[in-house]
Amino acid sequence: MFMNFRRIHKCQCVQLLTTGLVLCMVMVCWEELDHHVVSHMRSYTYRYLVNSYDFLNSSFVITTKDQKRKNGAISVNGLGSYPYLINHPDKCGGVGREGKRFDEVLLLLFVKSSPENFERRQAIRDTWGNESFVWSKLGDSVRLLFALGVHPEEGHRSFFHWGYKYCSQAHFFMSADDDIFVHMPNLVRYLRQVLGKQSRAKDLWVGHVHRGAPPVRRKDSKYHIPYELYPWPSYPDYTAGAGYVVSGDVAAKIYHATLVLNSSMYIDDVFMGICAKAMGVSAQEHVFFSGEAKAPYHPCIYDQMITSHGHATDVRSLWREATDPAVYSHSRGFVGNLYCTAVKVMLLCRPYYQNTYSCMAAFT
Ligand SMILES: *[C@@H]1O[C@H](CO)[C@@H](O)[C@H](O)[C@H]1NC(C)=O
Ligand SMILES: *[C@@H]1O[C@H](CO)[C@@H](O)[C@H](O)[C@H]1NC(C)=O
Ligand SMILES: *[C@@H]1O[C@H](CO)[C@@H](O)[C@H](O)[C@H]1NC(C)=O
Repeated sequence: MFMNFRRIHKCQCVQLLTTGLVLCMVMVCWEELDHHVVSHMRSYTYRYLVNSYDFLNSSFVITTKDQKRKNGAISVNGLGSYPYLINHPDKCGGVGREGKRFDEVLLLLFVKSSPENFERRQAIRDTWGNESFVWSKLGDSVRLLFALGVHPEEGHRSFFHWGYKYCSQAHFFMSADDDIFVHMPNLVRYLRQVLGKQSRAKDLWVGHVHRGAPPVRRKDSKYHIPYELYPWPSYPDYTAGAGYVVSGDVAAKIYHATLVLNSSMYIDDVFMGICAKAMGVSAQEHVFFSGEAKAPYHPCIYDQMITSHGHATDVRSLWREATDPAVYSHSRGFVGNLYCTAVKVMLLCRPYYQNTYSCMAAFT
């Protein structure tokens, strides 16, 4: 009897100790667990089951008084409240310059940069941002503009203002970081397809789409968002800010939304998502717009890639290789197609998450 009692006692002790240990570990790791698992589960549930972001429209609209102030600040001297932009009002053909009509502009490229990144800007001008290359080789007009910001996160707020004011005739607008690579021939081909026979493109907002992304609540993160700023478990869909394209009508809608919505959400991409949601514009995924990562280097990738992120130094060599007309010959014919699919499956369908092109891109 006595022995038995002692054994039970011992067992309970061990149980108690183990439970305590597990609890301790969960508490220590809770923040990590919350960050990586719980917040994502909550946010996906919200995105896919609830999917109601109606609150964005009502709770983000600012008062008419604040709207007047905001509009006033903008109209005082063009882009008064956005002091960092190097302004080229006639970049887009100019208002009645030499009595000419507006040129047809297919794409206005707006690249966010900072003053010290002179080398990167030069590399972009010489490669994918070379306006005369696009004109002479592809027969389309693309205009390149750099926004030098002390505050790069605010980049595209001025982008929409600038586009609306000085380049409203452009068919498409692209916002890009200065460390991305854009395969301009593929992009122009794609945009021409979208345009088709229409005189104006409509409702296009395309890029690498983040769906059901949760706000980061960890204080040590660069993207920390306190509950006061955004109390909901999930952001509306948004495209990765590294590079995305909108059609002219969407750019105008976003511009109007920025005038009446509270812009204290400082993460640019997310703010764009909020504006778009309020205006009823939805993001389209294109598998060859990359997220935060570099695309693999391979001709079978080059013949379809649109953007790739993280190219500060190899822009020139990549441009030479990726725009060589020979890259298109690899995927030609049945055998070529099969070969390229196999290569892409090997490069893109990895078991771990890479955040470059998705495995789906191998089959398009
Ligand atoms: C830009 O493209 C044009 C036309 O293809 C070419 O002649 C010129 O050398 C290019 N500029 C640079 C800096 O590479
Ligand atoms: C915008 O939202 C923030 C945080 O919710 C709030 O503190 C601020 O007063 C709002 N601004 C305007 C102009 O409504
Ligand atoms: C609110 O939503 C409606 C319908 O989607 C839209 O027409 C309106 O422009 C939105 N308001 C603002 C301020 O964005």
